[in-house]
Parts: sequence; C-alpha cells; structure tokens
Amino acid sequence: MKKCKQLTVEICVGTSCHLLGSEDLFESLKRLPRKIQDAVDIQGVNCLQSCGKGPNVRINGLILTDVTPEQLLRVIETNFYCEKESI
Ligand code: FES
Repeated sequence: MKKCKQLTVEICVGTSCHLLGSEDLFESLKRLPRKIQDAVDIQGVNCLQSCGKGPNVRINGLILTDVTPEQLLRVIETNFYCEKESI
C-alpha cells in the first residue's frame, strides 16, 4: 500500500474569514481527487490572527492569506505526494 504525505488543512471560520468566503474553500475541497481527500485532515479554526486578509488557511503550520478556492486546490495538489510502491 502506498504511504502518502499527511496534510493538515485548517480553514479559518472566524467571522471575518466567513464573510470573506471561507465556506467556499470547504466546498472546493470536494473537487480534490479521492486519494488526496483521504490524506487531508481538514479542520475549521476560529481565528488565525490575520482577519483583514481573509479568507485564511493554515497548511501544515504555514498560514496563507486571501486564499481563493483555486489557489487552495493548487497548493494542496502541489504539496501532496505518495511514496512509490516498492515491488
Ligand atoms: S477571522 Fe480569520 S483570521 Fe481572524
């Protein structure tokens, strides 16, 4: 079985980020391929202390601001990988 990199995606659901579209970010994750969805730990967090720049997301500790659904999907797909299966 392939071993895939675990990604933790924390989407801010605080008031500012909610008003700026964080719900659209959650929705966009449904468009990821199944194998990536299975390897992504998705969480809602209350505030990432950058309220004026939202919607904000933290991926494996790195905070991204003013994130669009397309950017979120691209960052996740770029940072996702699975080890090759050994024979
Ligand atoms: S509400 Fe999202 S960073 Fe504060």
